[in-house]
Amino acid sequence: MAVLYNDTEKIFSLNTKNTTYQIKVDSYGYLLHLYYGKTVNTSMEYMLTYSDRSFSGNPYAAGNDRTYSLDVLPQEFPVQGTGDYRSVALIIREENGCCDFSLHYKGHSITDGKYSLKGLPAAYSEEKAQTLEIVLKDSRTGIEVTLLYGVIEDCDIITRSVKVKNSGSENIYIEKIASACLDFLYGNYDAITFYGRHAMERNINRTPVTHGIQSIGSKRGTSSHQYNPFVILAAEDATESAGECYGAAFVYSGNFLAGFERDQFDQIRFLMGLSDEMFSYRLGIGEEFYAPEVLLSYTDMGLNRLSQNFHYCIREHICRGQYKDQLRPVLINSWEACYFDFNGETLCQLAGQAAELGIELLVLDDGWFGERNDDNSSLGDWYANEKKLGMDLKSLSEKIHKKGLLFGIWIEPEMVSENSRLYRSHPEWALQIPGKKPVRGRNQLILDFSNPEVVQYMFDSISSVLCQCEINYVKWDMNRSISDVYSINAVYQGNVLYDYMLGVYSLLDRLTGAFPDILWEGCSGGGGRFDAGMMYYTPQIWCSDNTDAVDRIYIQYGTSFCYPLSVTGSHVSAVPNHQTGRVTDIDIRGCVAMTGAFGYELDLMALTQDEKTKIKQQIQNYHKLAPLLKKGHYYRLSNPFKDGLGVWEVIDSSKETVLLSIILLNVHGNMPVVYIKLQGLDSTKYYKNTENGKVYPGSGLMQYGFPVLAKPGSYPSFQILFERVL
Ligand code: DGJ
Repeated sequence: MAVLYNDTEKIFSLNTKNTTYQIKVDSYGYLLHLYYGKTVNTSMEYMLTYSDRSFSGNPYAAGNDRTYSLDVLPQEFPVQGTGDYRSVALIIREENGCCDFSLHYKGHSITDGKYSLKGLPAAYSEEKAQTLEIVLKDSRTGIEVTLLYGVIEDCDIITRSVKVKNSGSENIYIEKIASACLDFLYGNYDAITFYGRHAMERNINRTPVTHGIQSIGSKRGTSSHQYNPFVILAAEDATESAGECYGAAFVYSGNFLAGFERDQFDQIRFLMGLSDEMFSYRLGIGEEFYAPEVLLSYTDMGLNRLSQNFHYCIREHICRGQYKDQLRPVLINSWEACYFDFNGETLCQLAGQAAELGIELLVLDDGWFGERNDDNSSLGDWYANEKKLGMDLKSLSEKIHKKGLLFGIWIEPEMVSENSRLYRSHPEWALQIPGKKPVRGRNQLILDFSNPEVVQYMFDSISSVLCQCEINYVKWDMNRSISDVYSINAVYQGNVLYDYMLGVYSLLDRLTGAFPDILWEGCSGGGGRFDAGMMYYTPQIWCSDNTDAVDRIYIQYGTSFCYPLSVTGSHVSAVPNHQTGRVTDIDIRGCVAMTGAFGYELDLMALTQDEKTKIKQQIQNYHKLAPLLKKGHYYRLSNPFKDGLGVWEVIDSSKETVLLSIILLNVHGNMPVVYIKLQGLDSTKYYKNTENGKVYPGSGLMQYGFPVLAKPGSYPSFQILFERVL
């Protein structure tokens, strides 16, 4: 059983394949956190210690027992008002401004299968999963809190979420809510976080958790380019292949906060949930609020194993739809091929050339609708610009299909241009504060998705495009941070940003449900909404607007700590690269792009004959490797930020096929040999390099390494496929 309850000791044990999580209801009805780590079969209550803590808070029920303090004890879900002065998971304000309350155990239930969350993305699993719900109550205010735990055994994932119910007699305001709290009694841990900017997302930062509070988050309305909603707490000696580490991924695409605090007794508290800035959620009498889910995982086998747990969970328990398992078509995207400069005829030429090369899908990016010839107009007007295309969308789709390609389009449904028919007829549908000029971003405003009328309009409008002709793929973009949060429809403006996300999810849910055969790709100026929440609706997301192969090594390295290759949109683009001006050869561009959801994004009409030949070979090679790349175990074998090398490995679960990719980032005269240690091979077997037939012992490749002799070029790349032989 995944969830066990010992009624005598009042201890819950949540068990995955390799981990245990323990919670205790103590004698005062408070919920204490006992343990999260490698599987244990006994109670860990003995770890709780008590000594005089009278300068911390002591709950009234403890009488004059000064050794009992929630300021010191590890808690499962700390709230404001119990004498715990660390950062708490929940702050609720009453109408009169009072913010203190206290939660006590009321009951629990254990059920088979994994819970789902109304209106929110969440991991799913029918088999090998159980749900624990623990109900807590504050008798004075009537606030009822249900802690939800999903135990997904196969990938060592424990999920957490929280439901708040207002069972009192007046409105309450949720001022802060974290979905997960982890209290550690002791230990030296590093916080690993992923920071960045547009076109340079998910750089890695590793820093010891010190006294005080360190936090990352977003208040941009999207999960953001700047900090990704995935963090790791790693033992200070943890490496890629060994050591204890905990990961937490927020299944949400809006504002978030993740914080690490080392307290007065050297204990550590970790919290992850919604951002408390720009958030104050009014809950009317009888209403319920769901906090988005956090995925937690633990391993003592290092960071690569932790990443593999998340990859598996996202691939198998978050991504949905027919493309969850299906291999994705190799695509050509029109954006860097021609930006806004195209018509129906030039697109057909592009499609013809693409078909000759073996490309399978043409994506018509921005610029096909309204009167859009640059990024200053027409968002909201989702009908084809027939004047520009020289034909209607149906004819274009038919022509592309006739060339043997699938056809896809770009949309940005959450946005409106002031210069658009939609804005002219419904200016009140844009988020704007009466009497204040709105902040613009990319010269566009944001539609009020907290208003169901707007969501319904967008559903009708996008559906009508998708019904007009055969469309096989849609790229859903979102190109600015949110500001001017004010809805004409809201009863309370503090609710709007969260309700906006529910509106986005509802539209995604309805559209993906109504058009299940379409491959949906997420995007937010590249990787500005690259999170497990979006992955529930779009099984692939454009990883970054930076298509430079060298920069992509760094971006995809950071991305790989949580997210699988199957969701990581990655394309071969032209040189000099449009973002960096860097020139790299087609091999490295292919090698990097195919370690993701693979495609091309360049003017195929401008290719040399030699490039065409290479691209044809690249695509054939990709088709051979695609099943391995989609489901194989991924290992980072270098840190490009430190080692001057990009090296990664993908191996299938039966350890028969191994793809090793190597890129030398620093080339010098008379280069020393580079030795790469592989991981996860069968140490009792041999592996053959399929290119030259040379055979290597699996144990040797892992323990001593594989020698790589540098070859000339600015960024020499190697893609080596090994097959197990004996
Ligand atoms: C930003 C995206 O990331 C690009 O790929 C492209 O779709 C542009 N938007 C179009 O405006």
